[in-house]
Amino acid sequence: MILITTAGKVGAETARLLAQRQEPVRVLVRDPAKATALAQAGAEVAEGDLEVPATIDAAMRGVSTMVLVSPAVPAQELNVVGSAVRAGVSHVVKITSKASADSPIARRRGQTEIENGLIASGLGYTLLRNNAYMQNFLMSAASIAKTSSFGSAARDGRVGMIDTRDVAAVAAEIAASPAPHAGKTYWPTGPEAISFSDAAVVLAKLLGRPITFQPLTVEEQTQAMIDIGLPESLAAMNAQAVALFAQGDSDYVTDDVPSLLGRPARTFEQFATDHAEVFSSRSRAARMHSHGHPAVKVTLTTQQKESS
Ligand SMILES: NC(=O)c1ccc[n+]([C@@H]2O[C@H](COP(=O)([O-])OP(=O)(O)OC[C@H]3O[C@@H](n4cnc5c(N)ncnc54)[C@H](OP(=O)(O)O)[C@@H]3O)[C@@H](O)[C@H]2O)c1
Repeated sequence: MILITTAGKVGAETARLLAQRQEPVRVLVRDPAKATALAQAGAEVAEGDLEVPATIDAAMRGVSTMVLVSPAVPAQELNVVGSAVRAGVSHVVKITSKASADSPIARRRGQTEIENGLIASGLGYTLLRNNAYMQNFLMSAASIAKTSSFGSAARDGRVGMIDTRDVAAVAAEIAASPAPHAGKTYWPTGPEAISFSDAAVVLAKLLGRPITFQPLTVEEQTQAMIDIGLPESLAAMNAQAVALFAQGDSDYVTDDVPSLLGRPARTFEQFATDHAEVFSSRSRAARMHSHGHPAVKVTLTTQQKESS
């Protein structure tokens, strides 16, 4: 049995792909009502909460391999690792980011703490240190839909951004046959490093109207994230991460996705095409915005609130 610890962007797609491959897969969710599509796709759904250790232990029964993905609160993920040790799990695929103990970004320091705890646990492991997700653009969908413009403190920094569907495909591939990947760290990225101006050009072509990109200061970026409904501390941390893009922090590309999957990683153009509806001026987000509602609060789920 393969356990996926949450059903967010990466977890849900990983579970779907494994079910499609006829692998036994279980996904831990807080609200099973949100996981009916996964259940229909063949995944077992275990109701639980990473804050409640007994529910983690219950979901861990009979598990041989786990994909550890969550908002990466160290105490929670380290509890999950402890539960996996007790249950005799043999391999953990850990979804992480550009983790380092001295990063200015608290989440990246937390990822290091989790990675170190996992390695020290003695479990077999593979680290997926992913570059920034293309799906972060969904946070700007309402702005693009309504005003044909978006801003970012990434300024003219380039990012080797990756589609979360490719992160999930890599996680599923490794979870299905972990042995060759034991003890390895991969750095999955998209196929190219692009700037946010490049992204605006792709969106303009796709949507058939000019899309403007505005460089923001870190303070403006923080405020923009607060405006779309993020708590202040998360907004400040995300803005800090985005500002690092401007300094070239995420300007790298690897061939990990094609080497692991035997096909190219999805391009930003593919991502944007597949999500064209949410960027469209006829989208629900744009209509809610024009009726005076805080549009992104309508479209933004917890699954869309994070930057690397
Ligand atoms: N965003 C980026 O650019 C980026 C880049 C590299 C790496 N990463 C890493 O990717 C990971 C996040 O993956 P993701 O984007 O797939 O996450 P996500 O879409 O934000 O989804 C998070 C999921 O966790 C669930 N969850 C939250 N707290 C929970 C709890 N206490 N118990 C059970 N479930 C809980 C949420 O469920 P509910 O529906 O119940 O809220 C949601 O389904 C993090 O480790 C992050 O550092 C992100």
